[in-house]
Amino acid sequence: MAIPFITAEEAASHIENGFNVGLSGFTASGTPKVVTEAVAAKAERLHAEGKPFQINIFTGASTNDHVDGALSRAGALNLRTPYQSSAELRKHINTHEVHYFDLHLSELAQKFRYGTFGKLNVAIIEAAAVDDDGSIVLGTGLGNTPTWALLADKVIIELNEAIPAGIRGMHDVYLPADPPARREIPIYKVSDRIGDPILHVDPSKIVGIVRSNATDGVKPFSALDETTKKIGANVCDFLHGELRAGRLPKSFLPMQSGVGNVANAVLFGLEENEEIPQFEMYTEVIQDAVVELIERGKCKFASTCSLTFSDEKMHEVFENIDFFHDKIVIRPSEISNNPEIVRRLGLIAMNTALEADIFGNINSTHVVGTKMMNGIGGSGDFIRNAYLSIFSCPSVTKGGLISNIVPMVSHLDHSEHSVDAIITDQGIADLRGKDPVQRAEVVIENCAHPDYRELLWDYLKMGKGGQTPHTLSRAFAFHTAFLETGDMHNAQLG
Ligand code: COA
Repeated sequence: MAIPFITAEEAASHIENGFNVGLSGFTASGTPKVVTEAVAAKAERLHAEGKPFQINIFTGASTNDHVDGALSRAGALNLRTPYQSSAELRKHINTHEVHYFDLHLSELAQKFRYGTFGKLNVAIIEAAAVDDDGSIVLGTGLGNTPTWALLADKVIIELNEAIPAGIRGMHDVYLPADPPARREIPIYKVSDRIGDPILHVDPSKIVGIVRSNATDGVKPFSALDETTKKIGANVCDFLHGELRAGRLPKSFLPMQSGVGNVANAVLFGLEENEEIPQFEMYTEVIQDAVVELIERGKCKFASTCSLTFSDEKMHEVFENIDFFHDKIVIRPSEISNNPEIVRRLGLIAMNTALEADIFGNINSTHVVGTKMMNGIGGSGDFIRNAYLSIFSCPSVTKGGLISNIVPMVSHLDHSEHSVDAIITDQGIADLRGKDPVQRAEVVIENCAHPDYRELLWDYLKMGKGGQTPHTLSRAFAFHTAFLETGDMHNAQLG
């Protein structure tokens, strides 16, 4: 039977108060764009009539303004997981109007299949093509779509006519068996394909197809500044040093790169550095910089969960899709971020910190210890299992009022046990094989901004012993000074 075309409003009528809804995609890429706007409008209408309407949204990662923006503005979100980066939603999370739990991205699909979050009522899936037998060519981001398609009672398809037919064949849809039946995931090389390019959905669950023509709307990165350029150059120097010392194989190892401005700058640094050989990427997102790395042959192959390109770059890739077709594979997030594969392939993991402490602990998520920024994303999936785990950040932020190197992180995402090196615009702290005091010495000397070095030395020296010589009453002196005076330079250690 032919699957009917329906309007976004008809699709929204299948979503009821309290429902668990799974969305396709990963970042803005491959995420639905029209049905969620209709759900937000339905919520506003019902709220105006004094009726309750809030839903729980499960995604691959962050989304777009049609999802997190529209639904949080409409007061339509009760629960949200596993990651977000929306300024609008962030406000609601930090006032507890939306319950948000921040989860390692590789874990959500399997936790859902294990029954942790109850049943999935509806999945909304963006598609580049759909057949009446339920065969679907997915869009630019895969995320947790295979699990949503399997578990949902009802499936709504958003057929995005802006995605070129040439994307067919770039996906590798694979669902691992669950314990106790799980076997190894048979990816032994970055480019191995283990699944199906097509997602197969039980057609009897598909309630209809909604047409869409919206682009992912990813904004291009701002031009690289001096600080991010220096970070990129320092990361390259570190990797080059590892190659020279024979601690990295001459053929190099696959790279994972995190999200944001700093990660983008690091990739540009890799492109410019002639001493870094050609490499492959095994990562969760590829951003604009990777397109150029592939075009110039620096990146030979990229395994990713999404094509998170700006609209301009996406257009360029779509125009030239035949060139990219055999150089990129798009996988589900539980495979792109799978700890088993990260360890097997020996990834070089490069992620960004909000702040690092002198002993090597990392805060990636909470501004001054309390306010959620985005979430842990895939950083934990990768860094805990990587061959080499690097965190980078600027040495200072907000014009120098904040030191990104602090005595003790105000929130812990990644512990000292999982971090091999911290790199800032100032330099490189190689933490491997060092005790806590040795780590602190190298972090202060090599990574802290000169304006804050003396304060950090004073903090380290005032410790009265123990293997990690913290002075607990002063451990948050930097943060307290920022909260009270707007400037970490005013930290009172005495
Ligand atoms: N305290 C307060 N604010 C801070 C801060 C600190 N220690 N460090 C950075 N900031 C602010 C910046 O000033 C900037 O604010 P603005 O948006 O008002 O300009 C903002 O945080 C982002 O910082 P920026 O230096 O532009 O970094 P980024 O874009 O590279 O993002 C993270 C950095 C940490 C927020 C981002 O990488 C992230 O969310 N990471 C966690 C998830 C993750 O690692 N996923 C990757 C797995 S593949």
